[in-house]
Amino acid sequence: MSELKSRYQILIVDDDKNIAKLIEDTLKAEKKYDFTSVTNGEACLKYIAEQMPDLILLDIQMPGIDGIETLRRIKELDPRIPVIMISGLDSLEKAVQSMKLGAYDYIAKPFKDKNRLAVTIRNALMTRDLQNEIKELKQKYEFENIIGKSGAMKEVFKSMEKAINSKISVLILGESGTGKELVARAIHYNDKVRANKPFVAVNCSALPETLLESELFGHEKGAFTGAMSRRIGKFEQANGGTIFLDEIGLMSPATQAKVLRVLEDKKFERVGGNELIEVDVRVISATNANLEEAIKKNEFREDLYYRLNKYPIKLPPLRDRKEDIPLLAAHFIRKYVEQEEKEIEGISPEALELLMAYNWPGNVRELENAIERAVVLANTKEIMSKDLPAAVRSIGERKIYESDETLASWIERLEEQALRQALLENEGNISKTAKKLGIGRATIYRKAKKYGLPIN
Ligand SMILES: Nc1ncnc2c1ncn2[C@@H]1O[C@H](COP(=O)(O)OP(=O)(O)OP(=O)(O)O)[C@@H](O)[C@H]1O
Ligand SMILES: [Mg+2]
Repeated sequence: MSELKSRYQILIVDDDKNIAKLIEDTLKAEKKYDFTSVTNGEACLKYIAEQMPDLILLDIQMPGIDGIETLRRIKELDPRIPVIMISGLDSLEKAVQSMKLGAYDYIAKPFKDKNRLAVTIRNALMTRDLQNEIKELKQKYEFENIIGKSGAMKEVFKSMEKAINSKISVLILGESGTGKELVARAIHYNDKVRANKPFVAVNCSALPETLLESELFGHEKGAFTGAMSRRIGKFEQANGGTIFLDEIGLMSPATQAKVLRVLEDKKFERVGGNELIEVDVRVISATNANLEEAIKKNEFREDLYYRLNKYPIKLPPLRDRKEDIPLLAAHFIRKYVEQEEKEIEGISPEALELLMAYNWPGNVRELENAIERAVVLANTKEIMSKDLPAAVRSIGERKIYESDETLASWIERLEEQALRQALLENEGNISKTAKKLGIGRATIYRKAKKYGLPIN
């Protein structure tokens, strides 16, 4: 699992100062901890009101408010801070009681097993870090962070809402970059029960057939040449949580059969094993391929398709929900301005117009990449057209000519526009305009008549 971060603040609360000294000496070798010690419950509460330690070691028997009452008040202040009770032999019953109040664990004085103290502290901090990580992920995948007010996206949100409240397997369909993985994660992290368990993503196209099967289901030692030891597959790792099968269209028939069985019976065997493993895993799959075509070509099992397709969520391509482009652009500008620490306030109307006109074959991912690049390049308060990728900019250039018009008519249109503008700038004065444009007065006169432009 994840490594501990580099430094932790530990608060020791014990009326016996020797205990604090003993703990510090025991843990000195870990070099990760900074200690503060106080000798009673009141001082402890006063301390944490000012600065929150990462972990508290709390004696049960103390003069004044005892450890149990102190624990109760700590939990009122912040229920997430791990508290490990220090218990004398005569207060073991209270130690058990403290667990019900939310203590992480208890250790008995005197610390005969020094290693136990170190391991308990380490595990408590790891658990807390993990909880914080999950909390951050939950925030990251809140619905508000999936941008879209278009009708198509409102439908998507409704479907997601229903999926979260059910156990049904979900199939997410959509072109590359439309947000399939984002939606899968949001379903997981908004599910109150599953969010605290793993979200495991497997890209079915990234591995050759045989490897994919052992990746998903694990294998026993000696299952095939090179299987030196037992391996736990992704389905087992995801137990209690969600497995995300990305690019599901690219699975071999044997693997498809096994996946179907998990969906139906929640059971499978590791490769080369015969023990039936039972798991409780929600399956979310995704593809940008046309599975119905694959069925016709006998590349995809029809029964698995019907099983997966019971609850499809279709993500619209970005070109079909262009009204979301300004919102998405603003969202990504905010994100990358913060990341790049730049002083950009928005996007120019011309640049936004280009974003609206472009077709976005790479969908939201392409838009996100374009904005990230623009934020890096921009040297003004606003993102300008010049900061956008060439493909997007060329849209603006192409717009001046209609695809069904002849070159002659296009040149004529340009000539009219140029002449109109030049005459306007020179207040209709033929001589001045002729000089500016580098052509004769007679030509100006003739062309102005032709296009019906006002001259003096
Ligand atoms: N509606 C949205 N709001 C905000 N960000 C989005 C939205 N849709 C997609 N994104 C972002 O666009 C990027 C691509 O999304 P994601 O990886 O989920 O697409 P995908 O459909 O899985 O693509 P692929 O088929 O290529 O794997 C991600 O950074 C994601 O956060
Ligand atoms: Mg994806």
